[in-house]
Amino acid sequence: MRKRVIAGNWKMHMTCAQARDFMAAFLPLITDLPDDRTVVLAPPFTAVSTMAELAAGSCVEISSQNVHWQPKGAFTAEISAEMLLEHKVRYSIVGHSEPRKYFSESDEQINHRARAAQSHGLIPIVCVGESDEQRERGEAERVIRRQIEQGLEGLDPNNLVVAYEPIWAIGTGKTCESPEANRICGLIRSWVGATDLVVQYGGSVKPENIDELMSMSDIDGVLVGGASLKPEGFARIANYQDS
Ligand code: PGA
Repeated sequence: MRKRVIAGNWKMHMTCAQARDFMAAFLPLITDLPDDRTVVLAPPFTAVSTMAELAAGSCVEISSQNVHWQPKGAFTAEISAEMLLEHKVRYSIVGHSEPRKYFSESDEQINHRARAAQSHGLIPIVCVGESDEQRERGEAERVIRRQIEQGLEGLDPNNLVVAYEPIWAIGTGKTCESPEANRICGLIRSWVGATDLVVQYGGSVKPENIDELMSMSDIDGVLVGGASLKPEGFARIANYQDS
C-alpha cells in the first residue's frame, strides 16, 4: 500500500515564535496516527532550523519550500540541498504554482530542482496543475501531462511525491470535486508509469473535506496551504477518518 503523506505548506507565514506556539499545540494532537501516515510541514527558511528541533522525535518531517540545483555559488535568494540537509530537512516542494506564476519558473528549472533534491536524498514534492482558463478551454490534461513529462524527466518515482494542485482551487475555497481530483491523480500515476508513486491533491483542503478526499482510491495525501496554519485544523486533517 502506498504511503499517505499529509503535508502543510506554510508559504510566507510563521515566525519562529509562532512556529513554537503551533508545535506546542499541534504535536499532542497527532500522537495516535496510523503507521502508514507521514505528516510534513514546510515552514519558511527562517523557521526550518527551529522546526527541525521541535519536530525531533515526533512523526513530523520537515520540508523546504524550494531547493536550488547548484551546491553553492552566486545565486542570491536561493538555497542548496546541503544547507537543508544540515537541518534534517527530508522533503522539498518544487514547482508550486506561486513561483511558477510570480517568478516564471519553468518545467526545466523545476526538473533541475527536483533532480538536485533527489540526488541529495531529499524527496521532492513536485506540484502540477492547470489554471481556470486552461480547464475552461479543455486543456487541463494536456497541460498537466506536459508538466509531468518535462518536470519529472529522469526522476526516481520511488522517492517522489507529485501534488495535483489545480490553480483555481488554491486559496480560493473552491475545492476540486473529489471524483475529478481522483481521476487526475490516477492519470498522473499512469503517465508516470509507477504504481507506487505517491500522488497528493492540493487546493482548499480543510477539515470539512479531508475525509472524502482521502477516501478516493488514487489520492494518497494532501498538500495544504491555509488550513495548515491552525494547529487544531491541521491536526484534524492529519487525523482524517479512514472510510
Ligand atoms: P490552500 O493552498 O490549501 O490554501 O488552497 C494549497 C497550496 O498552495 O499548496
